[in-house]
Amino acid sequence: MNLKGRNFLTLKDYTSEEIMYLLDLAAELKLKKKRGIPLETLKGKNVALIFEKTSTRTRCAFEVAAHDLGMGTTYLDPASSQIGKKESIADTAKVLGRMFDGIEYRGFGQEIVEELAENAGVPVWNGLTNEYHPTQILADLLTIKEHFGSLKGKKLVYMGDARYNMGNSLMIGCAKMGMHFVACAPKEYFQDSELVGMCEEYAEESGGSIVLTESITAATKDADVIYTDVWVSMGEPDEVWEKRINDLTPFKVTSSIMQLAKPEAIFMHCLPSFHDLKTQIGKEMGERFGITEMEVTDEVFNSEASVVFDEAENRMHTIKAVMAATLGAV
Ligand code: CP
Ligand code: NVA
Repeated sequence: MNLKGRNFLTLKDYTSEEIMYLLDLAAELKLKKKRGIPLETLKGKNVALIFEKTSTRTRCAFEVAAHDLGMGTTYLDPASSQIGKKESIADTAKVLGRMFDGIEYRGFGQEIVEELAENAGVPVWNGLTNEYHPTQILADLLTIKEHFGSLKGKKLVYMGDARYNMGNSLMIGCAKMGMHFVACAPKEYFQDSELVGMCEEYAEESGGSIVLTESITAATKDADVIYTDVWVSMGEPDEVWEKRINDLTPFKVTSSIMQLAKPEAIFMHCLPSFHDLKTQIGKEMGERFGITEMEVTDEVFNSEASVVFDEAENRMHTIKAVMAATLGAV
């Protein structure tokens, strides 16, 4: 398997064998890290990390992974670079491509990260766009594989706004890996039909399946994984909160929903999560709408079934695998 020079923009561009290769590589790198075996296989190289939206996990994962591999990192936030305001994406890509060996981009439209990749001449990695969040999916797949021993045939139910980056990318990842993906939400929150059609083709090839349903009982029956994400994503306007809370509250992950799934089912969330009132936005929404949590109850979030912090840790190991493989360190 040789992924040197490849971009990592969406899992649509990767075969199931390539995804499995990255997961196995991540597991190997994780083991090495736990055993204290130094890597530094990319010593002397440098990566640029562009963040047009905020981040805790993705930024830290890229920085720690790059440093573990021996690389230098430069973090560019929206306020401290010329990107978009004084310099086009294409020109920025050409400049950064002359100095760096790889570029991470987190921001808005997928077309931006695609344009960066077309012009950079070095691998570009998608650290989240409105449409996709592929590095998160690698971490999720690794977590599921670690937990159950395999991916094929596992049923993952995504509850909530399935139209955005997480719903889209989980559907692609599951379809490619022979898993059964279910989106459970009101109809208007289902993924775009063109992407669903594409994923149905992947699923046919891999032995997986795609179901979009409004029925919580049908969705959760025999589920191995119950997954949710915030109801309002970064960059969305404040006005959408009220309708989202009204529409998606029935799809909040509660203990009774978990009980409908298999007894050994796990709860997953990409984080950050509104499971209590201990955040600024959580508190504000609590006051505005008289609620104490949103997409998941505190009880489920902190339950034995919850593997959310394993996912968070696995962001680093999987991102390390993506950089190592595309920069040719393996
Ligand atoms: N899950 C995730 O991407 O987290 P951050 O927004 O903190 O990077
Ligand atoms: N859907 C969320 C994911 C955060 C990791 C967002 O885009 O804000």
